[in-house]
Formats: sequence, C-alpha cells, structure tokens
Amino acid sequence: MSPSPNASFGSQTADRSFDFAITGGTVVLPAGPTQINVGIKDGLIAALSVAPIQAHQTIDATGHFVLPGGVDSHCHMDQQPWEGRSTADDFRTGTLSGMCGGNTTVIPFAMQMRGQSMRDVVEDYHLRASKKAHIDYGFHLIVGDPTPEVLSKELPALIEQGCTSIKIFLTYEGLKLDDYEILTVLELARKEGALVMVHAENEACIRWLTDRLLERRKTALRYHVTAHSDIGEREATYRAISFSELIETPIMIVHVSSGLVVEEIRRAQARGLPIYAETCPQYLFLSSDDINTADMSGAKCVCTPPPRDPSNQPAMWRGVLDGTLSIFSSDHSPWNYSDKIAGGPDAPFTDIPNGIPGIETRLPLLFSATQFDAPPENRLTLNEFVDLTTTRPAKLYGLYPRKGVIALGSDADFAIWDPNKVVTIRNELLHHAVDHTPYEGRQVRGWPITTISRGEIVYDKGEVRSQAGRGLFLPCKRPFTPQREPSSLLTG
Ligand code: URP
Ligand code: ZN
Ligand code: ZN
Repeated sequence: MSPSPNASFGSQTADRSFDFAITGGTVVLPAGPTQINVGIKDGLIAALSVAPIQAHQTIDATGHFVLPGGVDSHCHMDQQPWEGRSTADDFRTGTLSGMCGGNTTVIPFAMQMRGQSMRDVVEDYHLRASKKAHIDYGFHLIVGDPTPEVLSKELPALIEQGCTSIKIFLTYEGLKLDDYEILTVLELARKEGALVMVHAENEACIRWLTDRLLERRKTALRYHVTAHSDIGEREATYRAISFSELIETPIMIVHVSSGLVVEEIRRAQARGLPIYAETCPQYLFLSSDDINTADMSGAKCVCTPPPRDPSNQPAMWRGVLDGTLSIFSSDHSPWNYSDKIAGGPDAPFTDIPNGIPGIETRLPLLFSATQFDAPPENRLTLNEFVDLTTTRPAKLYGLYPRKGVIALGSDADFAIWDPNKVVTIRNELLHHAVDHTPYEGRQVRGWPITTISRGEIVYDKGEVRSQAGRGLFLPCKRPFTPQREPSSLLTG
C-alpha cells in the first residue's frame, strides 16, 4: 500500500521534535505494508508520516520491514519446581531471549498447585518478574485448585487487577481438574469476561496407555508419542468444547498438535461456537521422527502434546492457513537437556520432563516458512503473519491496542526485520539459559535484527541494550463482556 505523498497521521512532523524516528522502512500497518516514517514521543507512537520526521534519534530501516513487536502469549518462565524439577529460564533470561527474537510482550503463567492460594502465587510471580523482566509482561493464571475461596474471591480480584486469562489442565497430577471443577471455572470466566485456556489431553487415556506400554517394556522415547495419543487429545478437546457450549463462554484450546483436533475445532467453529485455538512451532516444524532417535537426543523434542507423525503436518498447516488455528505462540518451556536425560541412557519415556525451548526462534521459523520456503499457496501475507503472532494474541488477551499493532497512541514496540538475513540456528546464538535448541542447524531466511520497546532500542544487531527490570507488568483488559446472567440452559 502506498499513501499519497503528503499523507501524515497524528502530530504534524516538520515543526515538532520527536524523541525517536524510524525512517525508510516498510511498516506493517493494519491496512498493509506501507512506506512511511514513524515518530515516537514518550514511548508511544505519535506520528505515521510520509513527510520527513525530525527527531533526537533516528533509526534508518531502509530495506527492512518494521513490524509491531511480537506478542508471545504462551511461554513459561521462572515457573516454580514441578515434580521436584525446575526449568532453565527465569524472567531475566526468558524475556531477554524473547526480546532478541523480535518480541516486546510475553504472557507467561502464574501457576497454582493444589493447596496453594492463587493470590499468594501471583504476588510471588510479580515480585520475581518485576526485578528481572527486560520487556513487558502479563500473567495467565494456571488454576490447579478452584476452591470456593479461589472462585468467589481470589479470581474476581485478580481479574480486576488485570490477570484476565485462566489456564486449566485436563491432565497432569497436581494440576488436572475434574469435569465439575472445569464447569465451575468456566462459569466464573463467563461471569467475569475472562478467557479460559485449555490443556486438552485425556488423563485416563495417557495413564492407561502408559501402564500398558510399560508392562510390555516399551519404554523408548518414541512411546511418549503413543502414550499421548491424538485420540486422547481429540476427546479432551471435544469435552472442553462441549463444556464451553454448555456454559456459553469462549475457550482457547492451547498447543493444538494434531489434524484430528483441528477438525474437531473447525466443526465447532462452523457451528458458530466461540472456540479459539493456538498452535506452536513444534507442531509445524518438528515431528515424532525427531523424538524417535537411536540415542537420547530425541528427548530434546519431548513435550506434551507431542509433535506428531510427519503425515499430520499438512492438516496443521491447513488449520493455520484457513484460520482455524488463530494464534501461534512458542509454549517455551525450557528444560535443559542435561535435566531431560538425568535418568541415563535407558530411562523410560516417562522420566523425561515435558517441554521445549522456542521463544527466540518462534518468529523466525514461521517468517521463513511462510514468506519464502513454503509453496506459494501456503504462504502468508506479512499482515497475516503479524495477525497470527502478534495482533490476535494481543486482542484475545486484552492488550490491544496498547500492544500488537502499529497505530497512533499504541506503545512504540517494534521489531525491525532484515528479510534477507540468512541464519543457521545455533544454540550459541540464542539468549535463553537452555543448553540446546531443538532447531539446531536449521537455516532460516529473515531475522528480527532490532527490537524497540516503548521507544527504547533494547536490542540491536547482536547488542543487548536493555536492563533487567525495565519490563512493566501489563494489566490485561477483560477480553469479553462479563455475563451476569447464567447460561440459557438455566434461564430458559
Ligand atoms: O510440554 C509442555 N507443553 N510443557 C509445558 C506445559 C504446558 O502444558 O504448556
Ligand atoms: Zn499445556
Ligand atoms: Zn505451556
């Protein structure tokens, strides 16, 4: 899109000095990629102008794309020990890695286990994040114990304070909710206008398959994929959809891994149900072949749900291309390989901690695939790329238009991309605290070379310029209108 030569939005540009300007780049505005200059004042976008902009500092983005800073709406940082073990990234290294991968906003989880107060958990996450975060962050609430106190007092107060999304698990000892509890959480979300994110795997299917596999001494890594079947994932997804329909409240199915699940979600959406869905790099760029290795290196790709058989990938891509899967997050869950294989070379698959790193590689992997590597019919426009990775997450989690868009008045958050930079991904290039990347050796084209957060250059061509602790907590708005009336099943 090219605006008329004198077009300018916002403040007049010649008679005013901005703090900062980005000039010469192709700026991805909601209306399309546009040759336009950006003026920044007090950390906000204050002008979008074809005319030159006067500023104290200018960055020349000629030949580059200027995108809104990425919003990674599913990542784990500083998560407290789970089954006695901890992941590698705290808020300092997790946000640093995200920032160097073109993100300016992350939404990690504050995780409540059985017996804990949700309020205390969130307070503790605030303390740790505020001292360490490089970029801005919100919190999703993992509700592992929806007691009457949590449902009636703690959650309404936390939603009011800006934690407006809740993740629930249909599996995992210590976290999984039973069906009645799920309904009560959905009921609360409806009343409060919050969004419930669902980890949809059927606990009994996993347990039964695991027991039978172990009885048969089928302990190799590849049986992790068998135990976490796509049939169990589909059952849990369908159950969550049914509960959402019953309570009449939207849900987000997170980390969708399989074509069977995409079909289920597509069916629900075709019936007009407000079912949203997320997928992640591991389900588009890894497969069960990466887990099925002769040695233990396949442990690097063990996560739940697992990457599926390669034959599953076309259905996943179809889901991305037709919009059934509306957001693309990292599910960065950074276990060190050394911890993954602590049980030795013969450890059964059940001993491998689930989760893989990916916050810094999320955007480059998808950019390269969808701008260059895929056949033309499977490519995305730049705006579609931004929608999937940035704008929709900001909208669905109540951060739009402060985050997720280049528009007047929004935070001056940008990622400047060199679309021609070819990078071979190596763990030593990345900024996380993890001892490996599952994408080691992959070549991608296009890389975010500069990150700007609230008008500050925080990362530029390999140089980290930010300080831990500069990131701000982002109170999220309620994504939906609170419904004070119960579901129509009760009022009809
Ligand atoms: O394997 C995964 N995805 N671990 C992270 C926790 C979760 O379920 O998102
Ligand atoms: Zn999950
Ligand atoms: Zn996760």
